[in-house]
Amino acid sequence: MTTQEPPSKIRAPEHPADLIFVNRWSPRSFSEHHIPEGVLYTFFEAARWAPSAFNAQPWRFLYALRGQSEFDAFLAPLIAFNQGWARHAAALIYLLSRKDFTPPGETEPQFSRTHSFDSGAAWANFANQATAAGWVAHGMSGFDVEKARTVLKLPEGFAVEIAIAVGRKGDGAHLPPGLLQRERPSGRSPVGDLAARGLFPERFRR
Ligand SMILES: Cc1cc2nc3c(=O)[nH]c(=O)nc-3n(C[C@H](O)[C@H](O)[C@H](O)COP(=O)(O)O)c2cc1C
Repeated sequence: MTTQEPPSKIRAPEHPADLIFVNRWSPRSFSEHHIPEGVLYTFFEAARWAPSAFNAQPWRFLYALRGQSEFDAFLAPLIAFNQGWARHAAALIYLLSRKDFTPPGETEPQFSRTHSFDSGAAWANFANQATAAGWVAHGMSGFDVEKARTVLKLPEGFAVEIAIAVGRKGDGAHLPPGLLQRERPSGRSPVGDLAARGLFPERFRR
């Protein structure tokens, strides 16, 4: 389901793209709702269909549900700022990526230059599916990567890309006033700042 109205004037698209993209944003308030694992798997399903170089599908998701045993361990690597709000999420997720792949017709794995890029596409699918289903997915790079590797018992050959807090948007009751003020969709640079016909334009330097 795609909501027909942009969430605020600041999110009015300049060109008529599907509103699923403008409706996705990153709240920090979560309701008390738990997330059924079946719902979470619909987000993983959307991620699954992301494109990747050689269809290598380097993305891997590890998740913990609030109220279950792994949740505190997943929370621990986050910086204090993120812990403050993300501990109310219904699920915490780490998006990993496999750094090598075996090209078609080859037998030896080789380094994938696009393992992070491909996993970013999977994250976008995940977040947009969550939005379409009425949930929130908030990406975070604010965590201690080494601590995450230890907590998650990651083997060599896998990168930790981002953490993700998932839940139903809340009323902000858990947020300090400073964060409550920021609890609204942000704007974007004009399309003209990100796309140009032809060679590199001066305006891209801004
Ligand atoms: C890779 C990545 C890392 C981010 N890290 C954090 C973070 O550590 N803490 C946080 O509160 N928000 C984080 N965000 C959320 C961004 O601040 C947010 O996506 C951006 O301001 C655009 O706002 P919007 O998602 O509401 O459209 C992150 C987003 C991405 C994609």
